[in-house]
Amino acid sequence: MLTPEKKEMLYEGKAKQVYATQDPSTVIVYFKDDATAFNGKKKSQIHGKGIINNTLSSLLYPYLEEKGVKTHFLRQLSDREMLVYAVDIIPLEVIVRNVAAGSMARNMGIEEGKIMKKPIVEYSFKKDELGDPMVSEDHIIALEWATEEQVSSIRAAALKVNQVLVELMEKAGLTLVDFKLEFGLKEAEVLLADEISPDTCRLWDIKTGEVMDKDRFRKDLGQVAEHYQEVLDRVKKALNA
Ligand code: TMP
Repeated sequence: MLTPEKKEMLYEGKAKQVYATQDPSTVIVYFKDDATAFNGKKKSQIHGKGIINNTLSSLLYPYLEEKGVKTHFLRQLSDREMLVYAVDIIPLEVIVRNVAAGSMARNMGIEEGKIMKKPIVEYSFKKDELGDPMVSEDHIIALEWATEEQVSSIRAAALKVNQVLVELMEKAGLTLVDFKLEFGLKEAEVLLADEISPDTCRLWDIKTGEVMDKDRFRKDLGQVAEHYQEVLDRVKKALNA
């Protein structure tokens, strides 16, 4: 396989950078230690986070592929870099919830920890300046961010990811409370993109309920990197990786 050459930076987000390679069909994602919350209003660094999130994502994407989810992932290149297909990111945060927490608990006055009768898929328009407003499938289709078929692929993939990860996290002694996915289009095909990590999931210890994810940063609970590392170690063990 051709060794990817890291060329110019194409995009810089809050936690990652994306670089061109000599092959226009692939890009390199670089994971930073930067952490933000509340649409970028709170900013800091979590030492080693980029390595943990890249390593965890690089384990979870192939595992999801094995289970039939199409992703952008090609391979891990280094401790902070992975090689992925270049996709056009659909400007949505696709959130799946199993247990009420975060904005759902807050906006709807629902007690944190209430278990949903069935998983909820919800969508937010990814736009920090607007506070990522929630949108419906009709908005997505009517505004031509994705076609009806693509939305139905996204919903099916999100629920499949949930099913696979709930089971895996349970093996790792973790409750998958909720998580955020992003999808991209490669020649009209929907691929799971972005990352899956403690930055983008809520994970609670299955026995004690201890918060193991980015809420430690959002709520100043301390020992953020240590808990991220614990998540990675437990998932590795659950995968026998
Ligand atoms: P929320 O309850 O704050 O809406 O978050 C739902 C899930 O999405 C939670 O697992 C955290 C994740 N998330 C992100 O990955 N990025 C974001 O910008 C936000 C707001 C949430």
